[in-house]
Amino acid sequence: MRDVFEVGAQDGLARIGELDVPRAGVTVETPTLMPVVNPNLVTVEPARFESEFGAELLITNSYIINNDDDLREQALDEGLHEMLGFDGAIMTDSGSFQLAEYGEIDTDTEAILEFQRDIGSDIGTPVDIPTPPDAEREQAEDELATTQDRLELAETVDVGDMLVNAPVQGSTFPDLRERAGEHAYGTDLDLFPVGAVVPLMNQYRYDDMTEAVLGAKRGLGRDAPVHLFGAGHPMMFALAAALGCDLFDSAAYAIYARDDRYLTVSGTKHLDDLHYLPCDCPVCAAHSPDDLKQADDDTRERLLAEHNLHVSFGEIRRVKQAIKSGNLMELVAARAHAHPTTLDGYRALLDHSDQLEASDSASKGAFFYTGAESARRPEVLRHHQRLDRLDVDGDDVLLTEGDSNHRYDESWNVLPPFGPYPSALATTYPLTAETPERMDRAGYEAAAEGVRRLAAANPDTEFTLAHDGWPETALATVPERVDLYNSATGE
Ligand code: GUN
Ligand code: ZN
Repeated sequence: MRDVFEVGAQDGLARIGELDVPRAGVTVETPTLMPVVNPNLVTVEPARFESEFGAELLITNSYIINNDDDLREQALDEGLHEMLGFDGAIMTDSGSFQLAEYGEIDTDTEAILEFQRDIGSDIGTPVDIPTPPDAEREQAEDELATTQDRLELAETVDVGDMLVNAPVQGSTFPDLRERAGEHAYGTDLDLFPVGAVVPLMNQYRYDDMTEAVLGAKRGLGRDAPVHLFGAGHPMMFALAAALGCDLFDSAAYAIYARDDRYLTVSGTKHLDDLHYLPCDCPVCAAHSPDDLKQADDDTRERLLAEHNLHVSFGEIRRVKQAIKSGNLMELVAARAHAHPTTLDGYRALLDHSDQLEASDSASKGAFFYTGAESARRPEVLRHHQRLDRLDVDGDDVLLTEGDSNHRYDESWNVLPPFGPYPSALATTYPLTAETPERMDRAGYEAAAEGVRRLAAANPDTEFTLAHDGWPETALATVPERVDLYNSATGE
C-alpha cells in the first residue's frame, strides 16, 4: 500500500480522510461520492459534476470503453479526462461487474490495467471475481483465491503513478471477507473496495451488507481507504460511513431516473406517487411533479437524475458534518428509523459495538438517546466496561436517579441507559447525554446491566439502588444483594 490516505476526524469507524490521487494531482476529501458515467448513456454531462454538485472523482468502466471501437480510439487518442470533459480524478472499473452479470469477458487483469493506464485513468481496477451473496462456501473460497491471484498479478503490472484498487470479496462469509481484507492490505495496491455487495443493496439487505463490510474492515488496517462498490442510495450513506467506508459510487442517480424513480434519504419514491417534491434542490424548487411528468422523456430523465445527484451529495455533506461534530450515530439512527431495512443495518452494526468502540473518540457532541437501539451504542458498552475498573469508596453506596443521601458513605448518580457513575463524571461525555423523560425498557435494562457490572466488580460493597420505577425486566438483572428503593412509589 502506498501512503496516499490520511485519516482525520473520527467518529466510531467513520472518518474524514484525505486521499491523494497523484496522477490527477488532486487530494480528495472523503467520504466522497463518485458519480458513475456510462460513456454510452450520459444523463448528466460530467463537466457539470464538479461545478454544480461538488464531485471530485467520477468512476467509469474501461471495459465498456475498450469494447467499443469508437470509444476506445477516442480514449487512447485524447485521454479519458478530455473525452468525458471532467477535470477531477477518474477511477475506472475493469469489467468484473460484466463478468458477474454475463459469465465471461474478453480481457484479463494485465491487459485491462495497461489499457486503463493508457487512457489516463487515475485509479484502475484488476479483474476481481464478484462472488454473489449466499454462494456455497467452496465457490466463495475458490473465487477468492482467484481474486487474490489477480491482485498479486496487478502488483507486477507497470501502472506508473495510477493508483490500483484491491477489491475485497468473500460473498456473505464474514470470515472470508476478513481474510480477503488481510490479504488485500498486504499487497502494495492502494484502495480497498468491498465488492459484490450490489445484489445485497438491491435487495435492501443492509444487515448482510453490514456484516460483509465489518468483516472486511477487521482484516484491513485503519489507514486503508475503503470503497463500497456500487453503493449509490443516499438512504444508506450514513450507515456505510459508520461502517468505515470512505468512497461510494452512484449509478443509482441515473438508473433510477430512467424509470421515474426519485431518491430521498429515507427511500425511493415513484414520480407517479408524488403530489409535491419534498426536497430543496434547484430542480425541486423550480418544478412541480406535473412539470416533470409532462416534460419529454429526455428532459424528465435528466431533471430526475439532477435531483438524485443533489440529494446524494447533500447527504454526503450531512454525513461529513456529522462525523466532524461526533454525532454520526444520531444521523444513522434517524435514517434507520425511517425505513425497516436501514433499521436492520443499524441493528447489525450495533451487534458489533465492540468493533466500533475500539476506534471511537472518547469525547464527542452530546449523546442523544433516540430509541431502544441507542441503548446498544458503543458508548454504553464502553461505560459498562469502565464500571469494571472504577473505584468505589466506602462500604455502603447509594446508586440513585435522584438526590444523594448522607446516610450512605457515597452516592453515585444513575442515568439510563448507562447506569451508575460517580458524580464527578457528570459533566463528561457521554454522561452529558440528552435522554427522554419517558425512557423505554431497553434504556432501563441497559442501566440495570451497569448496576450488575458495578456490583460484580465490588463484591464487598453494599449497594442500594434508588430508581424511579424501573420495569421488572430491568430489575431482574440487578443482583439480589443490591437493595432496591422505588422512589416513584416510596417502597
Ligand atoms: N462494481 C460493483 N461491484 C463490483 C465488484 O465486486 N468488483 C468490481 N470490479 N466492480 C464492481
Ligand atoms: Zn430535489
